[in-house]
This record gives sequence, structure tokens and C-alpha cells, in this order.
Amino acid sequence: MKEELYWRKFAFSYKFAEKVCFVRNLYDDVRRAVAHDYPDKDIRILDVGCGSGANTIHFAQQGYQRVVGLDPGESVLQIAEDKLRDAGDLDNCKFCVADITKRTEFDDGYFDVILSTHVFQKIEEYDAGLQEIRRLLKPAGTFYITIPSSTEKFSTWLWNYMKEKGIIRALWDIRWLLAWTSPYVLLTRKEDRKNENRWDISTMEDIVVRKNGFKKKIITALPYFHVGCTFGVFEKK
Ligand SMILES: C[S@@+](CC[C@H](N)C(=O)[O-])C[C@H]1O[C@@H](n2cnc3c(N)ncnc32)[C@H](O)[C@@H]1O
Repeated sequence: MKEELYWRKFAFSYKFAEKVCFVRNLYDDVRRAVAHDYPDKDIRILDVGCGSGANTIHFAQQGYQRVVGLDPGESVLQIAEDKLRDAGDLDNCKFCVADITKRTEFDDGYFDVILSTHVFQKIEEYDAGLQEIRRLLKPAGTFYITIPSSTEKFSTWLWNYMKEKGIIRALWDIRWLLAWTSPYVLLTRKEDRKNENRWDISTMEDIVVRKNGFKKKIITALPYFHVGCTFGVFEKK
């Protein structure tokens, strides 16, 4: 019950996430990478920790054969289902309640592509999650992951952002940032936010490649809100 309440509050903050320019930029980078690597849409995609389904619905709308969003939070998935209905009930898209650290309902090698945007910071048993992703990927299938990296001071970031964009544009963008982070910070548990994983480039390589046996294609740093982000693309060996 406590967990469900947490996810419900979390879901509320995620209603605003897509409006925040930094989140949007991050989505765009991942979407571009998948579109570039998979021009042929006859593939199955799994969005692990899909939250309110922004990427899941995007890929379904792009016409990929089968797109599944997986998340343990029933409330976030309710938002995702509502968005799917608004998008016209695409029949190549489905959501399922599941935890990626446990064995899921899908057969070995069922998916060609698995993506996970800003999920592994939340997962304590990340090795178990990566192993399940490996099981679900086809040989030579691709795994795209983003995760926050090291933190920097919010005030420094804000100052730089205003200098770069100009004050009017910065305030316009920050309106959505406040709409997103205020409920997130006010409603979610402080200890959960404090205990999040942060992976920089070398941590990602250590964990995903050396410990969990994926083959590295790209690991790079992206800007993301006031913290950086590490973006990795891996192949199943
Ligand atoms: C920060 S949100 C990101 C949502 C979405 N990927 C996006 O980029 O908009 C993190 C999501 O990870 C999900 N999550 C947390 N633990 C998980 C687990 N063990 N398995 C799958 N998803 C998990 C949460 O429910 C939440 O929706």
C-alpha cells in the first residue's frame, strides 16, 4: 500500500515531465538513435520503466510492429493507458505491470530493442534487472539506457541556463520544470531520492559490459536538467 501510494504520487509529477525541455531533449536523443539504428519497423520494442508511456506511445505511433511498456507502478500505467486512449488506442502497443528485477512474462529473446530512460537510478538490484533485459533481448539486439550521472549545484546550472537562453526563454522553460519538480520533490520520499544510483561513463561500462556481459556500442554524456546524464547503447553478445 505504501509503495502504491509512492507510485501514485510519482505518477502525478510525471504528468508534467514531457513538457520540461531537458526531459524532451533526452527523449529526442534516444528516439533518434533507435530510429537511426532500426529504419525497418518490423521489430519488437520493450520500454522498461516506461512511466507514463511517453516513449512507448511514441514508438507505437511511429509504426513499430509491437511496443510494450513495462512498469511496476499501476498508477503510472493508468496515466499511460489514458494517453494511449487519447492517441487512438494503437493496437501495436500494450502496457504491463512488472518489475524488471524479476522474471517477466516474455520468452527469451522476444525483443529486438529494449530501452530504459532514467529508470536504473531507482533500481537497487540493477544486476538482476540487466540480466532480465539480456534474457529478453534477441542475440545482437540493442539496449538503450539513460541514467543520471554526477550532480552539480542547481544554482550554477540555473545561472548558466539563463546566460545561454536569455532570461525570457529560460523563465518560459523553467515554468514546466517547476510544475514537474515541485510535486516530485514535495510528494516523493526524500530517502528514495537520496538513495538513487548515479552512473558516469566508467561506472556504466563496468556494470553493463564487465559485470553483465553486454557489448558496448556507445557510451556518452548528455546534459540533462541540473544533473548530467549517461547514455549508453549496447548489443547483446
Ligand atoms: C524517472 S521514471 C522514468 C519514466 C520513463 N522511462 C520516462 O523516461 O519518462 C522511472 C520509472 O522507473 C520505474 N521503475 C522503478 N523500479 C522499476 C523496476 N524494478 N522495474 C521496472 N521499472 C521500474 C518507475 O515506476 C518509474 O515509472
